[in-house]
Amino acid sequence: MTAHPGDVSGEPQDPIREIQQERERARELNEPLVDVCYLATVAAPDRPEVRALTLRDITERGFGVLVNRTSRKWAQLERAGRATLLIYWPAVRRQYRVWGPLAPIEPERVEGYWNRKGYGSRLLEHYYDSFHPQSEPVSSRAEFMAGIEELKRRYPTPESVPVPETMVGIYVVAEEIETWHGSPDRLHDRRLFRRTAAGWEFQVLVP
Ligand SMILES: Cc1cc2nc3c(=O)[nH]c(=O)nc-3n(C[C@H](O)[C@H](O)[C@H](O)COP(=O)(O)O)c2cc1C
Repeated sequence: MTAHPGDVSGEPQDPIREIQQERERARELNEPLVDVCYLATVAAPDRPEVRALTLRDITERGFGVLVNRTSRKWAQLERAGRATLLIYWPAVRRQYRVWGPLAPIEPERVEGYWNRKGYGSRLLEHYYDSFHPQSEPVSSRAEFMAGIEELKRRYPTPESVPVPETMVGIYVVAEEIETWHGSPDRLHDRRLFRRTAAGWEFQVLVP
């Protein structure tokens, strides 16, 4: 297990750096969830909502995700202006919870993500705008596939699919990060980091 950043006196205690390093370690161990996070929002006071999203880059700016403006989650994100993310990588026994406001991902970076998307994924982003918003009911799977076939005729190759206006990249800008280092003896190490003007401060939490 790697040392916790808070364990090494004199070293900068930067939980974002730690998460970046642990992600590399998880990737080397072929962690299947290495590019997955869970985004929590609030639809109503008695209805929190959570869903898996592809975790894009983790930078000093924040934790990147791509969402569509037609989606329910987008309405919830816009309303609140902030979100909570959860990351869990069993291969390295790490869980991270991230709280914070939202900021747009730089357009060049979003374009880079788009370039790596497959044909189906590109068509789907256009489906939301041209046919039905994401998560809306549709009368049948056949109706949905007919829409996709129509989009294939409109954009016959992956390269011909333009970046949709409705696709947005957002960072969850970490104000608080809770780290969980799983331990086989169950006496896990948990810490709550808070960003201050002077840098990150942390408190040890009861696991
Ligand atoms: C592993 C995985 C990765 C996913 N990645 C994304 C993603 O990057 N963006 C996205 O909008 N939905 C993604 N989804 C689908 C969402 O979980 C969800 O079904 C969808 O975004 C609709 O959510 P909403 O109705 O709460 O807006 C992913 C699902 C899984 C299982």
